[in-house]
Amino acid sequence: MAIDFGFPAGTALLITGAGSGIGKATALHAARMGVACSVWDINPDGLGRTVAELDAIGARSHSVVADVADEEDVRRGIAEATSELGPISLLHNNAGPPSSVPLAFDEAIVMSIGSVRRMTEAWAATGPGEGAAMVVTSSVAGNLVGTESDWYSASKAALAGYVRHLSAHRAHEFRSNAVAPGMTLTPRLEQFAASDMGRRILDRIPLHRMASADDIALATLFLLSPAASYINGVLLPVDGGWTTTQ
Ligand SMILES: NC(=O)c1ccc[n+]([C@@H]2O[C@H](COP(=O)([O-])OP(=O)(O)OC[C@H]3O[C@@H](n4cnc5c(N)ncnc54)[C@H](O)[C@@H]3O)[C@@H](O)[C@H]2O)c1
Repeated sequence: MAIDFGFPAGTALLITGAGSGIGKATALHAARMGVACSVWDINPDGLGRTVAELDAIGARSHSVVADVADEEDVRRGIAEATSELGPISLLHNNAGPPSSVPLAFDEAIVMSIGSVRRMTEAWAATGPGEGAAMVVTSSVAGNLVGTESDWYSASKAALAGYVRHLSAHRAHEFRSNAVAPGMTLTPRLEQFAASDMGRRILDRIPLHRMASADDIALATLFLLSPAASYINGVLLPVDGGWTTTQ
């Protein structure tokens, strides 16, 4: 199935956490739509595998090994990416620690929201220009259900608040939206999906399956695209109807 959301020729997209799961799927779909990709990840091996697949598609791409929580990494990465690809009008703020990692609350909040803000400001400072848009990967765990880990629900909810701020006060620079995935089959959820709790949740999802990374990537690319040019400030659940059954 060829999907084309009308990205103009020469469009470039920066994706964080592109070495695996949702970020990787966003990069591969964008590349098939003719969008140049600046792919970022803290894990060089995962990133290398994404780059190999982008090369096989024949995409224009550039990779940055960086920790989005590190200010110097972000500054260097943005400089490298824009020098390689030119103006980057789109940003997918996607990297974030898994909810299963036992992080200290204060540290996790700073890491999760601070990284998204840091990336957004560094990207915005380059002047992303015509058609500029940003999408953050939030979660149904932020605004619609509560996870066991306190920092995960709190930080994902905060991302939605940050997007509301941006959509209200920075719309002259770029549109801002959030995608809230439900249970999505990426490496971090493989074990959970097979657990008792995972199976119980799956039973309650009206579509009776987990999301694929492709489901989330396509929703993200739609919101980034000219097809969504009047959509600004939404939190879009992509959860197979799971939260309607809560
Ligand atoms: N999988 C799900 O069910 C689900 C549900 C809701 C939201 N999400 C969100 O989706 C996003 C992507 O998750 P995924 O499921 O694709 O996970 P994943 O583990 O498959 O991929 C995440 C990638 O981000 C990278 N990364 C992590 N921290 C980083 C950092 N500080 N700097 C740079 N790169 C970093 C990892 O190395 C990894 O390659 C996350 O923000 C996650 O919270 C996932």
